[in-house]
Amino acid sequence: MTIERVGVVGCGLMGRGIAQVCAQAGHATVVSEINDELLAAGMASIEKFLSKGVDKGKLSEEEMQSTLDNLTGTTDLADFAGCDLVIEAATENREMKLEIFRSLDGICGPEAVFGSNTSSLNITEMAVATGRPERVVGLHFFNPVPLMKLVEVISTMLVEDSVVGEVKAFGEGLGKVVVVARDRTGFIVNRLLVPYLLGAIRVLDEGLATMEDIDQAMKLGCGYPMGPFTLLDLVGIDTTYYIANIMYEEFREPQFAPPPLLRRMVLAGRHGRKTGRGFYDYSG
Ligand code: CAA
Repeated sequence: MTIERVGVVGCGLMGRGIAQVCAQAGHATVVSEINDELLAAGMASIEKFLSKGVDKGKLSEEEMQSTLDNLTGTTDLADFAGCDLVIEAATENREMKLEIFRSLDGICGPEAVFGSNTSSLNITEMAVATGRPERVVGLHFFNPVPLMKLVEVISTMLVEDSVVGEVKAFGEGLGKVVVVARDRTGFIVNRLLVPYLLGAIRVLDEGLATMEDIDQAMKLGCGYPMGPFTLLDLVGIDTTYYIANIMYEEFREPQFAPPPLLRRMVLAGRHGRKTGRGFYDYSG
């Protein structure tokens, strides 16, 4: 089976990037949101990203137009009926994701493959919520999706090897580098990244150094593109808190326990760039 028509559930931070790269790679792509307002915001942001790409000389006007022509927005999951692959990129909420997969199972053809962009939830649980657990994988992209080269494909003990192969080829067709991991919370990247980010918050809270100096140290001392606090603001403080809780619940290891300062930031509404303030202030 070749994956041609793609559906993306959710046009938020991740969904819009995933829909964009699918459409850009030539796939007829349907992307959904829960209401017209959120859909319009997501579509406008895709157009803005593409248009900046044209200004930077990264793509031509024609490529931008054909990408937009490949994209259709919807607020009705029924429009995923003809998709070969549906990638769920809804809010990181277990119940919501399970409900989406149950609905998709009744809408899509029996051969359709389902992928979840979850960064921390259990793929096996999503697979068994459908009548096709052998056709469900994790398909984890990184933020900002159009710029980040990596995709993690997550295989469960129920998935068919051929499906993992098809999804891997699909990811490569998007111009990404694909790695395969087993269904263990956090997969490869977050399993190693989350303890690092939480560690940065702990040493800030204990007064080791300023956050600016910690960011500089890790950027210049390790060659990372961003320091941990800049990255936390990009990923989202609330998202990191959510992921840390799930990882702690799964492994019960102190390295995954969300530090008190992280929880206070979430309660204070300082969720990062998306709210205008996280560790840094973006209001200007
Ligand atoms: N269209 C096309 N290309 C564009 C573009 C656009 N609109 N905007 C930027 N680019 C290109 C740039 O031209 C540049 O290309 P060259 O390298 O060929 O010059 C490249 O993309 C990088 O862009 P910038 O130079 O503007 O920005 P940068 O060098 O500061 O890099 C970054 C930005 C890629 C985000 C980099 O800072 C980075 O890699 N940061 C780390 C991000 C990260 O770790 N993300 C993962 C988070 S974890 C996650 O997502 C998973 C989870 O589950 C929590």
